[in-house]
Amino acid sequence: MRILFVGDVLGRAGRAAVVRYVPRLREKWALDFVVCNGENAAGGFGITESICEEMLMAGVDCVTLGNHAFDQRETLVFIERQPRLLRPINYPPGTPGRGSNLFTAARGQQVLVINPMGRVFMDAIDDPFAAMERELGACPLGVACDAIVVDMHAETSSEKMALGHFVDGRASLVVGTHTHVPTADAQILPGGTAYLTDAGMTGDYDSVIGMDKEEPMRRFIRKTPGARYEPASGEATFCGVAAEIGADGLATMITPVRLGGRLKREWPQEWGAP
Ligand SMILES: [Fe+2]
Ligand SMILES: [Fe+2]
Repeated sequence: MRILFVGDVLGRAGRAAVVRYVPRLREKWALDFVVCNGENAAGGFGITESICEEMLMAGVDCVTLGNHAFDQRETLVFIERQPRLLRPINYPPGTPGRGSNLFTAARGQQVLVINPMGRVFMDAIDDPFAAMERELGACPLGVACDAIVVDMHAETSSEKMALGHFVDGRASLVVGTHTHVPTADAQILPGGTAYLTDAGMTGDYDSVIGMDKEEPMRRFIRKTPGARYEPASGEATFCGVAAEIGADGLATMITPVRLGGRLKREWPQEWGAP
């Protein structure tokens, strides 16, 4: 089973890359399931219903979010009627939407997607580890589903790595999001879970984490309020990770995917040219 995960899609440039690459890769690589983090899709801040629809139309099966989940107020309403859009699972009870869902993939496989969020250097929310324990208990890999994809949205590499090991052997793929910079540690953990600390962003890398670099630089150099952050508008690098999952739900391959824009091209050679 072939799964593609796409890192934080940033603004118009990131969305253009999703529309350009996802339909092509779905076909060329015969992808079974595509997950995409959309927390920065609307001008860098949150997601709108029409943008979510655009991503699903492009061939994304599930859109995950993070700390920017509700930056666009309409999300509080439309997330309730969009089962393919997930917000962090460890928000307090009563938060609109859901943090996990079970989907049917291209060839009928059942895929559980879970979107926990870290707490280190982030908002104080509920325990992501306890939330994972509950989810994995309710829908065990190989018993109640064929694959489990976890988008761990967190600031620190340590918290993401700890969560990866916590679910090793119980999830198919754990991939970090939020830092907007891809890490080089793609690996299959000892128990068989494919793991990558951060998928990186799908956005313009001539920027400060996806935003036009002038204003972020100014705020670091001079501590005075200035202009608004604007998404950088150059060509995005389509950035994420590809994983092959066996019949037992565990991973047999994980490889970063980076296409277009400024980063060096990378993709799973065994799947053929993108
Ligand atoms: Fe992000
Ligand atoms: Fe984030």
